[in-house]
Amino acid sequence: MLSGLDKRVALVTGGAGGIGKAICVALAEAGANVIVGYNRSGDAARSLAGALPEVAGGHMAAQAQVTSSRSLEELHRNIEQRFARVDIVVNCAGMTRFVAHSDLDGLDDKLIDEILATNVRGPFAVVRAMLPLLRKSEHAVVVNISSIASVTANGSNVIYCASKAALDNMTKSLARALAPTIRVLAVAPGLVDTEFIANLDEQWRNEQVARTPLKSLATPRHVAEAVVAATRLSSTTGAVIPVDGGRPLA
Ligand SMILES: NC(=O)c1ccc[n+]([C@@H]2O[C@H](COP(=O)([O-])OP(=O)(O)OC[C@H]3O[C@@H](n4cnc5c(N)ncnc54)[C@H](OP(=O)(O)O)[C@@H]3O)[C@@H](O)[C@H]2O)c1
Repeated sequence: MLSGLDKRVALVTGGAGGIGKAICVALAEAGANVIVGYNRSGDAARSLAGALPEVAGGHMAAQAQVTSSRSLEELHRNIEQRFARVDIVVNCAGMTRFVAHSDLDGLDDKLIDEILATNVRGPFAVVRAMLPLLRKSEHAVVVNISSIASVTANGSNVIYCASKAALDNMTKSLARALAPTIRVLAVAPGLVDTEFIANLDEQWRNEQVARTPLKSLATPRHVAEAVVAATRLSSTTGAVIPVDGGRPLA
């Protein structure tokens, strides 16, 4: 059972996605008021906010389109009215598409721009928009959801890997820039056992498990527990915490 985040206000972008949902649940279990940020999945976000463990002050769903500064300004106004501050920002929103690394033509400019706008500009824009509310917190922390692909350069496509490397780098710059009042960390999952993975070729999935020292894939819950842990590491900033079963060691 998680605990210790009573009276903390947490924003999770991409909160209705596979990993975001587990993060929202874990934060609410630990006692936080959760703002489930969504882009297209408004219905799923509202139903998740209504189903989270009860906490005094409640939870809410709110549009948080990370590629739109106007949407983020509106989000700032919504959160200010309801909670007056933000203690925890989890940048979980992200996008990708599978393109073989050797298929350079398959990764066209439009897709490159979309990945970078969502995975790199997005988290920065969220922190920029939430800064006045984070500054009102005595325990402010930002947790960026990165990926093992940032160090292995092995993932859904070349630019996705590069976008997560940029996010790790930005985590360090922002940690320095926003200290001492706001901590900034990243959690970097390996392959996460979501429904998406379960629907892929079973032999391929089993090979991934066999190549992982801990002999299992991370679940969304493992990632969520790492996020809650990161909120408590009060003397740590600028760190990237792997949740990958030790995969890069193999
Ligand atoms: N799954 C893995 O194996 C894995 C491994 C390492 C890292 N990650 C990272 O974990 C994070 C979550 O991934 P996931 O597997 O949970 O994927 P997912 O289920 O596809 O969720 C992605 C989320 O991002 C949101 N999103 C996309 N574009 C957005 C935008 N422009 N503005 C706001 N929100 C946007 C989506 O919101 P709407 O549905 O509301 O549009 C959705 O909730 C991503 O950053 C991903 O890179 C995943």
